Amino acid sequence: MNRKEFILGSLLLPLVPRLEALPGVPAVSERKAMWKAKIPSSGELLGRVGLGTYKNFDVGNDEGKRQNLVRILNAFANAGGTLVDSSPMYGSSESVLGAAASTADLVERLFVATKVWTQGQQEGERQMRDSMRKLNRKKLELMQIHNLVDWKSHLRTIAKWKAEGIFKYVGITHYSVGAFAELEQVLKAHKFDFLQIPYSIAETEAERRLIPLAFDLGVAVVANEPFDKGRLFGRVRGKAIPTWAQEIGITSWAEYFLKFILASDQIQFVIPATSKLEHLADNLRGGSGIVPNREQRSKMRNDWLA
Ligand SMILES: NC(=O)c1ccc[n+]([C@@H]2O[C@H](COP(=O)([O-])OP(=O)(O)OC[C@H]3O[C@@H](n4cnc5c(N)ncnc54)[C@H](OP(=O)(O)O)[C@@H]3O)[C@@H](O)[C@H]2O)c1
Repeated sequence: MNRKEFILGSLLLPLVPRLEALPGVPAVSERKAMWKAKIPSSGELLGRVGLGTYKNFDVGNDEGKRQNLVRILNAFANAGGTLVDSSPMYGSSESVLGAAASTADLVERLFVATKVWTQGQQEGERQMRDSMRKLNRKKLELMQIHNLVDWKSHLRTIAKWKAEGIFKYVGITHYSVGAFAELEQVLKAHKFDFLQIPYSIAETEAERRLIPLAFDLGVAVVANEPFDKGRLFGRVRGKAIPTWAQEIGITSWAEYFLKFILASDQIQFVIPATSKLEHLADNLRGGSGIVPNREQRSKMRNDWLA
């Protein structure tokens, strides 16, 4: 390094925040770090707790909130988190995520998933290019078709761009149980690497047919809305988590809800959204420590509302 580079490096150093450690959350370097799961279509290992960006990253130009999200990304990465899920549907989220990842020097470390959400092949191509520009990426790990919108047009483009190495994986998502029958048909007819659907302790319909189908087809399952958009916390307000759950090391309802999901051997990943460091710590603990066994998992389902 020459003198000029050294001085420039020293000037830039304070702008790149250090990876932030959260209380009670094992760091990526520790043995107890976040559980990983294999992406079935490739065997690649990925941290099981991801980060959603729906409302929490849609903060526009608010500098204080943007700085807070840099800390969130840092703490997430320090715990071994890489999967971040966004969409052009989420207002400024993609560009806020792209900027936060640059500031935190994490652009290339993240496993970035976004979506295409528009009508028409040409418009889809334009939107996907725009997303990559906002995310500061020339390539993306995962491009998903959002809510099945014009999926036939977009699938042609995504398959072509995947073959060209622009996308590593192809996915399809939905927010609604009402779309599960159509998702089944699409999954059976075409090759996907990822399926993203609503699944939580209060919304388990997907485990009847769709999740087993994905498992049989070798498609990774990502659970979205794992807290039913935050509503689960209202349902347990003022209630202690069951004593037996505390005894196996579960310290919060967030951890309880996420461990319930990740204890399934057919759901690989979960993407809770938060903008608060203490909630992030909770959520990250949901992907480390003891994995509830089958019996404990069904007890979790029975006991949370008892
Ligand atoms: N069709 C689709 O593709 C689709 C549909 C839905 C969702 N998604 C994806 O899935 C992600 C997750 O879903 P979601 O954002 O709708 O809902 P969610 O993750 O189920 O819930 C988010 C809410 O829970 C709160 N929260 C998070 N962690 C908490 C904790 N430890 N303790 C207490 N409260 C906590 C958050 O508020 P705080 O900020 O205050 O923590 C926020 O209000 C989305 O962000 C998006 O990336 C995709």
